[in-house]
Amino acid sequence: MKDFDGKVALVTGTTGIGLATARRLAAGGAAIVACGIDRAANAALKWELESSAAGALVIDADVSVPDQVRDAVATGVERFGGLDIIVNSAAVHPYGTATSTDFETWNKAMSVNVGSIYLTTHFGIPEMVRRGGGAIVNVASVQGFACQQNVAAYATTKGAIHTLTRALALDHARSGIRVNSVSPGSIRTPILEKAARGDNGSDADVEAAYKRFGEAHPIGRIGEPEEVAELIAFLCSSKAGFCTGADYKIDGGLTAGIGVK
Ligand SMILES: NC(=O)c1ccc[n+]([C@@H]2O[C@H](COP(=O)([O-])OP(=O)(O)OC[C@H]3O[C@@H](n4cnc5c(N)ncnc54)[C@H](O)[C@@H]3O)[C@@H](O)[C@H]2O)c1
Repeated sequence: MKDFDGKVALVTGTTGIGLATARRLAAGGAAIVACGIDRAANAALKWELESSAAGALVIDADVSVPDQVRDAVATGVERFGGLDIIVNSAAVHPYGTATSTDFETWNKAMSVNVGSIYLTTHFGIPEMVRRGGGAIVNVASVQGFACQQNVAAYATTKGAIHTLTRALALDHARSGIRVNSVSPGSIRTPILEKAARGDNGSDADVEAAYKRFGEAHPIGRIGEPEEVAELIAFLCSSKAGFCTGADYKIDGGLTAGIGVK
């Protein structure tokens, strides 16, 4: 018996950590409902997971749009019979200060990074209640604790995710629903590649940048999406039955010290 046999998992974001998590949960026996805005990544994931044991549905959806999230949840429930797990990984990562960020960009960060969690839980929790409980993991960031410069909107959304995680955990604990967040340091995914290339998408040496980012982490390297997926899978599993309302850092020691190399 695998750890997610008989479970149905909704995952937002179909690249990077979302992709690694969808793969890990599918390998654990879960049926996957994956939603993302990147159509090429969606098509690749669909092809990859179609033949997975429990099946997979990959939906082209903007997770900041209420109707699209409502429909994705409903389609997943109709296809697989219910919903047990939600992993919220979709996000945008705008750069800028409060003065250089325009209001549209600010609102987009709020509605994709935080609003999507409101939407998946708004539509998904009633389905979990029907199953007698479930587990939710929100992907936050170390930037929700201590942020860099020039990421005002992004860091604000990550702090909000920590707070929303606690609120959801308290409100739904007695329904058997556990809600936690994970806060990664630098992880090898498309978002980090964008950071490596800079605002103008330069053809910078990405591996050299990853090495530099890795050196800022006491453990001496950046993390891999599969390492984050493993922590998420643990928090989604019955082994984490007493874990709720908490954040779990996965940052190679980044936030443990001050200026430690
Ligand atoms: N990679 C890192 O270093 C790092 C560090 C800390 C936190 N995180 C967080 O991890 C999570 C996953 O990011 P990642 O690193 O895998 O990068 P990523 O860019 O691969 O993943 C983000 C995903 O969100 C999707 N997305 C963006 N807007 C969307 C929308 N409106 N609707 C649906 N999907 C949308 C993108 O298409 C992409 O697939 C994010 O929440 C990110 O903030 C990443």
